[in-house]
Amino acid sequence: MTPAPADRSPVRLHVVTGKGGTGKTTVAAALALALASHGRSVLLCEVEGRQGVARLFDVDPLPYAERRIASGLTGPGGRAGTVHALHIDPESALLEYLAMYYRLGRAGRALDRFGVVEFATTLAPGVRDVLLTGKVYEATKERRRGKDVRTYDAVVLDAPPTGRIAQFLGVNSELAGLARVGPIRAQADLVMKLFRSPRTAIHLVTVLEEMAVQETADGIAQLREAGLPVGGVVVNRVRPQDLGPEQLAAMRSGTISAADVAADLETAGLPTDDQLVAGLLAEAHDHAVRRELEDRQRQVVAALGVPSWELPLLPAGIDLGGLYELAACLKEVGMA
Ligand SMILES: Nc1ncnc2c1ncn2[C@@H]1O[C@H](COP(=O)(O)OP(=O)(O)OP(=O)(O)O)[C@@H](O)[C@H]1O
Ligand SMILES: [Mg+2]
Repeated sequence: MTPAPADRSPVRLHVVTGKGGTGKTTVAAALALALASHGRSVLLCEVEGRQGVARLFDVDPLPYAERRIASGLTGPGGRAGTVHALHIDPESALLEYLAMYYRLGRAGRALDRFGVVEFATTLAPGVRDVLLTGKVYEATKERRRGKDVRTYDAVVLDAPPTGRIAQFLGVNSELAGLARVGPIRAQADLVMKLFRSPRTAIHLVTVLEEMAVQETADGIAQLREAGLPVGGVVVNRVRPQDLGPEQLAAMRSGTISAADVAADLETAGLPTDDQLVAGLLAEAHDHAVRRELEDRQRQVVAALGVPSWELPLLPAGIDLGGLYELAACLKEVGMA
């Protein structure tokens, strides 16, 4: 067995944000698998209460407790690590908080029945975010079970979308401003210290479409303004790039002859009816047009001045096999 290579990255908390629907949950899961190689242990957290991680890994809905959900990626000659998952909801976080700070162990459980759950759902968004980020912070710390001291090698957070991320991660700095002394102030300071340190990297997922890339640029500006560390941009759902500029130009301008296509189909032993040929030409045209738009957005991403990593569009969609495939891509492009 080869030992794990020295991990030179100081990053312990990877926050994955991005425009809605671009692939935050998918990328967070693939990143967790990729980081969990060489026997490393990784925690994948979700805070949006939608059980997207459980669906993705095809397991029962996750509780408010760390649960092993997968083996990590097996590197060449290396052994896989493990991925645990944690579903953080504000109700459970509030109960835990009350139990911790006011020793309401049993009373806390009774409160549950008498409506803490409803109470938590009426919390101001800021208070809710303090609870959620506080739990993420706790998950990055070392924990003791008897003599056993354990720390995750990395924590990956499937985070709120770009529009809310700076406020979500920055909520404890507002709190620190409100409470000048005491345990709440101390905790808020520690959380902000982690989030603003080189131990945290905030990654933005995008697709090569104008609106998503614009939102990414705005997100990076907001994070920087808030003093939060940007890791890089994950460009997801990238179309295959096996056609050259001349072929693409011909496809766009419609100068490819139907007769040539029919002849090629015949050589390959395929049917050559007019409808099929016309359909193929139309598809080729669409592909070439989209490729041109993507290439333009790729240049915009490159000019953002942060590292970027591309992930392919998997034509069959994302199943567990697809997740490992994306994890291997993230390793190959050097993100993990
Ligand atoms: N590389 C990919 N190839 C193919 N399909 C993908 C890829 N990445 C994500 N998808 C699909 O795109 C959809 C959105 O992905 P996902 O749920 O990860 O996005 P999200 O940003 O977490 O969305 P939301 O904002 O709703 O939380 C899903 O159906 C997912 O399977
Ligand atoms: Mg999601």
